[in-house]
Amino acid sequence: MDSAAVLLLLTVTARTLLHVLGTESVTALYGETIVVPCNDGAPAPEDLMFVKWKYEKDDGTPGDLLIQQARSSEATVQATDQYAPRVSINHKLSLRITQASLRDQKTFTCMVVSDSNLMEYPVTVSVRKVPSSVQIMDRSAALQKDRATVVGTCVAADANPAATITWKKNGKPLVADGKTVLITPSMKLDPASGLSTTSSTLQYAASKEDNVSVFSCMSTHQLANQEAELEPFAIHYPSEKVRLQVLSKVPVVEGDNVTLKCHADGNPPPSSFVFHMKGQKALVNNSDTYTLTSISREAGGEYKCSLADNEKMESSQSIIVSYLDLRLTPSGTVRKAIGDSLLVKVEQNASGEAQVSWIKNGQKVKLPEFTRLTYADAGVYVCELSMPGLTRRHSFELIVEGKPEITGLNKHRPDGASYKVLTCEATGVPEPSFHWSVNSTNEESSYINGKATHKISVIPKLNLTVTCSVSNRLGDDTLTINVSSVFKEEKKETGSKEESEDQSKLIVGGVAGLLIAAAVVGLVYWLYMKNSRQGSWKTGEKEVGTSEEGKKLEENHPTV
Ligand SMILES: *[C@@H]1O[C@H](CO)[C@@H](O)[C@H](O)[C@H]1NC(C)=O
Ligand SMILES: *[C@@H]1O[C@H](CO)[C@@H](O)[C@H](O)[C@H]1NC(C)=O
Ligand SMILES: *[C@@H]1O[C@H](CO)[C@@H](O)[C@H](O)[C@H]1NC(C)=O
Ligand SMILES: *[C@@H]1O[C@H](CO)[C@@H](O)[C@H](O)[C@H]1NC(C)=O
Ligand SMILES: *[C@@H]1O[C@H](CO)[C@@H](O)[C@H](O)[C@H]1NC(C)=O
Ligand SMILES: *[C@@H]1O[C@H](CO)[C@@H](O)[C@H](O)[C@H]1NC(C)=O
Ligand SMILES: *[C@@H]1O[C@H](CO)[C@@H](O)[C@H](O)[C@H]1NC(C)=O
Repeated sequence: MDSAAVLLLLTVTARTLLHVLGTESVTALYGETIVVPCNDGAPAPEDLMFVKWKYEKDDGTPGDLLIQQARSSEATVQATDQYAPRVSINHKLSLRITQASLRDQKTFTCMVVSDSNLMEYPVTVSVRKVPSSVQIMDRSAALQKDRATVVGTCVAADANPAATITWKKNGKPLVADGKTVLITPSMKLDPASGLSTTSSTLQYAASKEDNVSVFSCMSTHQLANQEAELEPFAIHYPSEKVRLQVLSKVPVVEGDNVTLKCHADGNPPPSSFVFHMKGQKALVNNSDTYTLTSISREAGGEYKCSLADNEKMESSQSIIVSYLDLRLTPSGTVRKAIGDSLLVKVEQNASGEAQVSWIKNGQKVKLPEFTRLTYADAGVYVCELSMPGLTRRHSFELIVEGKPEITGLNKHRPDGASYKVLTCEATGVPEPSFHWSVNSTNEESSYINGKATHKISVIPKLNLTVTCSVSNRLGDDTLTINVSSVFKEEKKETGSKEESEDQSKLIVGGVAGLLIAAAVVGLVYWLYMKNSRQGSWKTGEKEVGTSEEGKKLEENHPTV
């Protein structure tokens, strides 16, 4: 029998016996109670006898569910199958089926039998279910640049009808293009429940900028749309550039520790590098640096680094190692005799031009050249060589030695004093010691740059010939000077008898002295005139001068 014939048959029987009304439909939620209204919930006829609910079994045969007599308060469940515990009827004669499942998607018929009529109201039940969850599984740890990589699989589980899944990036739908966006959908039907699980796997070829992109998947369903979102991905890409960096102060100086650092722009950064050093290779794992400890001058030159897995990807840098050697002759302590010569030699070996400077006793000086050494040449000489970043310093101490020589022996009577000050000056290194032929007081001495001065005070009671002697381990020298008595010139008003006698002598002597003095003045004047014409001699009592001048003075004026 074809369906047209069945329809014809039904139409014929309905006209004569029963009325079958157009099929209503009802949608229920999975797991909830299905309420199937009878005659769309219209009131029952007044002459109602009973209402019966039945359904159509899978094989087409009718199955009884329950009967509600008009005068009974209780319905009678006729079902013997799985519907027996689940069905009931409400006051509006609607069929209630608990625990809706997909197997309840059938046509249920309400049969209303009255005294006058028999009506049938079929209702189609369909059961809907939203996905129990929408999740993204198998999320990748990272995406590859320009290479379609699995982003994840979106799963909308246990729905009816099946949910559809769409992918979005930053809220905008992604359309599969077979290159950048690949979407693989799949669907699974659970044979027991009849529920569908929809899956969709997204593969995506990312760009570097996708490191901030948010991927999400949306499940679309009649009843509700649901969305799941992924945190942004790390984008992995290979290195395109390598850069070698020299970590060191500039300039690099011999002895420095120089660290080479290899930068690669890939993500994640490479963990192994090869450093090429003047024909040698070093593989470095889990680090991007290599340190040259205490670099030598021979180590200057070209350095390279490359990726361990791609040595063509390389970068190079040239390292210039500065160095500076200084040799100074002489060195240490040098003893030389006065008048000697001394050759100072500076030898340098440097990577560049170095500045030479000399410091003597803390003061900048010119390059020392000693053809005839003097005591003033003695001192500590520091030679300093300097280049950017480098300084070398060497020194020597020069000692100029010589036997003592007296350069002056002088006498001087301070105004109104009853003593005379004798000054003996001498040169010599080591420091000369002084010795006088007279007893003295108020000794004073000084010694600077090989020049010694010794002063004493004497009270000569008689005319004296005083000797100054100087000596050190290299020799000695002496010189004498005539010193007249200080008492001769003293005038005393009071005193002993002896003294008054002396005083009368002194007066006589004084008259004679005046005469002598006049003669002396005349002589002095004559000498003065004579010498001033020659232009060398000086007037007065010359107390200070060289020993020679002193000697001359003593010759002309034997006493002072
Ligand atoms: C993403 O990459 C850009 C360069 O492409 C960079 O500037 C930015 O810092 C990155 N953002 C994050 C969150 O990694
Ligand atoms: C160089 O490195 C060595 C060993 O790492 C260290 O002992 C030395 O102090 C470093 N030298 C300088 C100048 O930093
Ligand atoms: C670095 O790793 C490679 C292989 O990964 C290994 O052959 C090599 O010996 C390692 N080198 C060092 C210095 O650890
Ligand atoms: C200077 O140093 C270089 C490098 O060590 C060496 O080859 C050269 O012989 C040195 N020259 C002198 C004069 O010492
Ligand atoms: C120097 O003084 C000492 C004692 O004070 C004395 O013995 C000596 O004779 C004196 N010498 C001279 C040269 O006057
Ligand atoms: C010191 O005086 C004596 C005579 O009194 C004399 O012979 C001598 O030459 C004088 N000495 C000097 C250095 O003038
Ligand atoms: C000291 O010398 C002076 C002149 O040289 C002389 O006049 C005097 O008599 C001398 N005195 C003594 C005590 O010898």
